[in-house]
Amino acid sequence: MAQLLITGGAGFIGSHTCLALLEAGHNLIVLENYSNSSNEALRRVAELAGVRLGDRITLLQGDIRNQEDLEMAFSQEKKTIDAVVHFAGLKAVGESVQQPLRYWDVNVGGTCSLLGAMKRHGCRTIVFSSSATVYGYPKKVPIQETAIVQPISPYGRTKAAVEKLLTDVSESEDGWCIACLRYFNPVGAHSSGRIGESPYGMPNNLFPFVCQVAVGQRKELKIFGGDWPTTDGTPVRDYIHVMDLAEGHCAALEVLMRERPQVLTINLGCGYGYSVLEVVKAFESVSSMDVPFKIVARRPGDVSCSIADSTLAANRLGWVTRRNLVDMCRDAFAWQKDNPFGYFSKND
Ligand SMILES: NC(=O)c1ccc[n+]([C@@H]2O[C@H](COP(=O)([O-])OP(=O)(O)OC[C@H]3O[C@@H](n4cnc5c(N)ncnc54)[C@H](O)[C@@H]3O)[C@@H](O)[C@H]2O)c1
Repeated sequence: MAQLLITGGAGFIGSHTCLALLEAGHNLIVLENYSNSSNEALRRVAELAGVRLGDRITLLQGDIRNQEDLEMAFSQEKKTIDAVVHFAGLKAVGESVQQPLRYWDVNVGGTCSLLGAMKRHGCRTIVFSSSATVYGYPKKVPIQETAIVQPISPYGRTKAAVEKLLTDVSESEDGWCIACLRYFNPVGAHSSGRIGESPYGMPNNLFPFVCQVAVGQRKELKIFGGDWPTTDGTPVRDYIHVMDLAEGHCAALEVLMRERPQVLTINLGCGYGYSVLEVVKAFESVSSMDVPFKIVARRPGDVSCSIADSTLAANRLGWVTRRNLVDMCRDAFAWQKDNPFGYFSKND
């Protein structure tokens, strides 16, 4: 059992991982500024884990860029923080093109401040949310971790920059235990339907969009390109159930806390891909709802196919995904049906 600081723990991946970490016996301090989330997510996480807020999970409202907020987090109840799981960040590729300064400030500047606080407080273990976007246009699929890092958006460049920063920090001083987890496409929700993805406004990702079309909140799904070099012409992605991803974090943390100091860089994906049309069909079959769609022009910066080589995750973390596309669609739909506006109300 460890005392962990979770940044951005109320977000989509953070909330599901908080649940998995509580279930694994860890105690959590969550530092959140709620810029893209609600504390209702963590209230439900506590309820699912059967713990009281303020007991094994403490919520602190604050920003990773603010030294006072970080001091407050590291000085909570005089407990030493054993490790940090760092989700806080901005994640929309398109928005990052419009607002690069904001993305570099939060994603890179915020991580610098966090690492400074870790150093001051003697904490040298961190799991970082990286992304498959660091690979840019992959030359070979499935993508191995040794593939060239050549991101094509400001968002991807901030993730690649933090990976470099973490390597520099580990080389500057002994003792750092670091995992950069390169997520592929996290989707789905907890099987209870109590926690899930709750995007503000127009979703950026396929699954929340498909869910909102299925329940009639949006007219139709736009598929960007029907002429990609894939079996049905639509882009292929490696979708990973968010609870598999959450378990991947628990596995990475265990390895870091058990082994010698190191920097681990590992893909978290299923190792196989589905086209957008395959996802739509699976979703229709699981939900018994129609998902009307229209094929429109390709988006600049999209890639035809992105699939993880997940061999390293299996070998180094002893972790493999356990949930399939039907589970992803079923759990995403159950969450959407029960929470049509996520954690927010219709007018938020
Ligand atoms: N969802 C994906 O498809 C995906 C894929 C690859 C990597 N990632 C990365 O994983 C992490 C989590 O993603 P998510 O999908 O859960 O996103 P999310 O937006 O749901 O969660 C991020 C959380 O960080 C919080 N946050 C943002 N800026 C903060 C700050 N300055 N201080 C404190 N808290 C702050 C937000 O309020 C939010 O709750 C992000 O770093 C993201 O870049 C996500």
